[in-house]
Amino acid sequence: MKTHLPPKQITAVDPQHPMHPATRALDGGLRPDPITGAIAPSISMSVNNVFTPGGSSFSADGVGDLTDLPYLYARWTNPTVRDLERRLASLESAEDALATATGVAAIAATFLSLLKSGDHLIISDVCYAGAYELATRILPGFGIEVTPVNLSNLDALKAALRPNTKLIHAESPCNPLLRLTDLAALAEIAKAAGVITSVDSTLATPVITQPLSHGFDLVIHSLTKFMNGHGDALGGAVIGSKELISRIRASSGVYLGAALSAQNAWLILRGIDTLFPRLRTASENAMQLAAYLQAHPKVLAVTYPGLANHPQRDLAARQMTLPGGMITFQTADPEAVSQKMAARFRVMHYAFSLGHQRSICVHIGTDDIMASTYRMTGESLADYKRFAGEGVFRLSVGLEDVRDLIEDLDRALAD
Ligand SMILES: Cc1ncc(COP(=O)(O)O)c(C=O)c1O
Repeated sequence: MKTHLPPKQITAVDPQHPMHPATRALDGGLRPDPITGAIAPSISMSVNNVFTPGGSSFSADGVGDLTDLPYLYARWTNPTVRDLERRLASLESAEDALATATGVAAIAATFLSLLKSGDHLIISDVCYAGAYELATRILPGFGIEVTPVNLSNLDALKAALRPNTKLIHAESPCNPLLRLTDLAALAEIAKAAGVITSVDSTLATPVITQPLSHGFDLVIHSLTKFMNGHGDALGGAVIGSKELISRIRASSGVYLGAALSAQNAWLILRGIDTLFPRLRTASENAMQLAAYLQAHPKVLAVTYPGLANHPQRDLAARQMTLPGGMITFQTADPEAVSQKMAARFRVMHYAFSLGHQRSICVHIGTDDIMASTYRMTGESLADYKRFAGEGVFRLSVGLEDVRDLIEDLDRALAD
């Protein structure tokens, strides 16, 4: 039978005609399937793929460069996962990416690949609790020294550097404070000291900030959040140079065993198709909600990078193309307000997680998080409280009509 399928097209991005980022979110080198002509990416569920004997190494050492076929075994990589990795690299203007089963797996893969006994890690003194706990509770057991530092304070960073410092791990905006780190300034200090830098950019996404363009070596995402954006798949990624990603993939990528499933890779690819319009809508809604909350008599304080009173407003304007979908706010008697939210919300949900299409709110008490995770004192605690007081409601703004979100907050904040 005669077919009229298009010829196979080149998947590499043409550097002479680079596409704009919002277009790359839908593309990243993806072309119609050369056999069926399908426009939507196919899902390859196969665990193993045939290969020509003799050409491949049996050991994981041979998986350093996975740019070319053959795919051998899905814990090393898989065609659908590789489609996602290419799209992520394209969005962050990077050479390569490693996708993992969760965001924490991407962080763990980075730490365990780049650090060994006797090395020193500097980690943001406020970052995703799982990353902080992994660094401060688990890594020291492997002989790795760890120092939490307020990375918004570059003098504190300089003072913490040691001859054996191998990695600085930042998060901007950081969860839950929405405090920012000056990525370009930090990268300059790290480069002068010969230290690798990684930043968790989950709350920003490549729509808002591209950390590699500010001089960072690695960018990490929990794909579970804004990148997938639909609250129905866990995933993570670390993105950077071919050399660093090969190192991470060949060690922890393979031996941690936290491979992303093809099904979740496919869902996340579909989520990324709408990343730009989702982030624009979430930012627009969040800007209106932040202004509403700021004017509400029961609200004591609001932190949002789009507000003129954000303590790092200039940095936000320099480093973020949109203010994003995350807001924190403080009220008196947060326990009672939490109860009212859970009982009275019609549209939002009182729940953990963030970056989904539906709005989510949760209270994070300062005493609670100090007891469970950070255990800060002195200047670190004072800075935490400058942003969060005795606790914040962390609001992840979704894509609903903002009038319904305001009504929900009105109901929850009423007597
Ligand atoms: C900033 C940030 N990084 C990493 C993670 C961990 O992601 P995952 O749950 O996909 O492991 C989270 C989860 O909330 C997060 O908020």
